[in-house]
Amino acid sequence: MRVINTLLIVTVMGLSAGIATADDDLLQSQCASCHNLTGPVPATLKALWERKGPDLFYAGVKYKADWIEQWLQKPARIRPAGMFYADHIRTENGADVIDTATLTAHPSLNAEQARAAAATLMKLKANSDLVKPGEFKSGPMSLASGEMLFDKFKGCLACHEIEPGYGGLSGPEMYSAGHRLQEDYTVSYLRNPQAWDPKGYMPNRHLSDTDLQKLVNYLRVLAEESKP
Ligand code: HEC
Ligand code: HEC
Repeated sequence: MRVINTLLIVTVMGLSAGIATADDDLLQSQCASCHNLTGPVPATLKALWERKGPDLFYAGVKYKADWIEQWLQKPARIRPAGMFYADHIRTENGADVIDTATLTAHPSLNAEQARAAAATLMKLKANSDLVKPGEFKSGPMSLASGEMLFDKFKGCLACHEIEPGYGGLSGPEMYSAGHRLQEDYTVSYLRNPQAWDPKGYMPNRHLSDTDLQKLVNYLRVLAEESKP
């Protein structure tokens, strides 16, 4: 009986290993502890607070493949104060400062692993129905007028940096967003952030279609200016 059980277990394990590819195994073994690769999004604040890394189950509709591949080899910090701002901020003389000692570096991959991980992540296409392919229209935009809109008119700068050390600390930095994010995703996300992440802290500013296009064009020129 014991022998049969063992055989059965070995067979079942062999089968499931046969279904998962080596790349899926890399994501499962090294990434799934911090990243949600299957969905759904956090439905409660408790689940939001427990989130250790950004959701990746719609990575294929959100990120640019070449950016993922580069970033995984040399991960630069995107959220200046970590996933959950309040965990890494102390107040000094009335000002918020980042407690960098409490922030840990992201694991990095070699070139081959990064290419494989990026390819696998790009296959994760949940939420495709929220994106209209080709909706973003690249158009003329100056850094100065984009910055006016981003800062003075829409108040985005309060939460997002537009250069290292300049801007708010609670959201992801925006100077690499144009390299990082697919423009059609960004349009969709800015139109209704809660459609993507119901409990997320990014406010819905009820932006007009014109302002959506302008803001995403601003992120495009800002990234070109900032380089990767
Ligand atoms: C210990 C937890 C942890 C592990 C393990 C981990 N990550 Fe991350 N990951 C994070 C955090 C936290 C961030 C946000 C980094 C930032 O904002 O600077 C992140 C960011 C990312 C991003 C950028 C997405 C974005 O919007 O910021 C990608 C892509 C990514 N991780 C992929 C991976 C892959 C692939 C693996 C496995 C090889 C992995 N991660 C392992 C915690 C982790
Ligand atoms: C109150 C703070 C706050 C304001 C104001 C704000 N954001 Fe955000 N934003 C966030 C947070 C926090 C996130 C990350 C949400 C998450 O990870 O759940 C975010 C996410 C984003 C993202 C997605 C970035 C990524 O890498 O996933 C973009 C793009 C963005 N914001 C642009 C803007 C723009 C444009 C404005 C102004 C119209 C703006 N934000 C105003 C806090 C803010």
